Amino acid sequence: MAAASLSGLVPNHRDFDLPIARILHVDCPHHYRYGQPGETEEAFATRLAEALEQRILAEGPDTVAAFFAEPVMGAGGVIVPPATYFEKIQAVLRKYEVLLVADEVICGFCRTGEMFGSTTFGMQPDILTSAKALSSGYMPISAVMVSEKVHAAVAANSGKIGTFGHGFTYSGHPVAAAVALETLKVYEDEHLLAHVQSLAPQFQQGLQRYASSPLVGEVRGVGLIGAIELVADKARRTPFDPASKTGGRLAQLAQEQGLIVRAMGDAVAFCPPLIITAAQVDEMFARFDRAMVRLEQEQP
Ligand SMILES: Cc1ncc(COP(=O)(O)O)c(C=O)c1O
Repeated sequence: MAAASLSGLVPNHRDFDLPIARILHVDCPHHYRYGQPGETEEAFATRLAEALEQRILAEGPDTVAAFFAEPVMGAGGVIVPPATYFEKIQAVLRKYEVLLVADEVICGFCRTGEMFGSTTFGMQPDILTSAKALSSGYMPISAVMVSEKVHAAVAANSGKIGTFGHGFTYSGHPVAAAVALETLKVYEDEHLLAHVQSLAPQFQQGLQRYASSPLVGEVRGVGLIGAIELVADKARRTPFDPASKTGGRLAQLAQEQGLIVRAMGDAVAFCPPLIITAAQVDEMFARFDRAMVRLEQEQP
């Protein structure tokens, strides 16, 4: 319940009595949606960092333990933070000794063009969570990495309590750990990080082609993750009526072309396998082109 409360995803909260008390949310760093007219990404980031500081002061800095963030919000619609966002947020966190927890479940292991999204965005997290690509998804495993400072505090207090009283039946399972180790070896042996870095420009440029579509409000992404956001009125940035399920329809049309994309509302996301080749990136967009043409034809 605490983990679901950390998310800002409304469907994860609604009818579950979430978020639970003492987990608070701050402004969503989506410049296209929440930036004011004429506001630069940098000015937007400054405004959000100032709002965070005011919120910490209002709550009482001693009551604020940690700030949780994904480097890029994945299931939230591939929201890439505005320029200077984490730099400014971290300055506030340091000022009030609030820990930074980076949720790298989606961003970790090459996805953003660095081994971790934290590297891509200049984050120095105290705690980092990872899963999915840790085993390339072949085996259920997750890992939490903590800084020396956090470890020392946990170790000291565990000595006081007698044990670190949090574990799971399958904690440290050797089969899952062996698969994760082998996966990390494949990343190194097959130079997958360099591969992602070499394909990212082609992938991002391919996505940018859709920016000129009358149905697309924003194209965003980094490394080998990206999304297009569909809008009913491009000039006014008006979203489609949710009842029209336009994003879902586009995902369906793509699937008819043999391409799986993920619709999150009207954000339609691409997250190809890290081993995708240049020719396959072209093929992916060729298939998506056909889906987009169909969607445009279906519009009234
Ligand atoms: C960013 C992020 N964090 C956490 C989770 C949940 O991870 P787990 O299923 O390992 O608890 C997800 C699930 O998709 C996710 O995308």
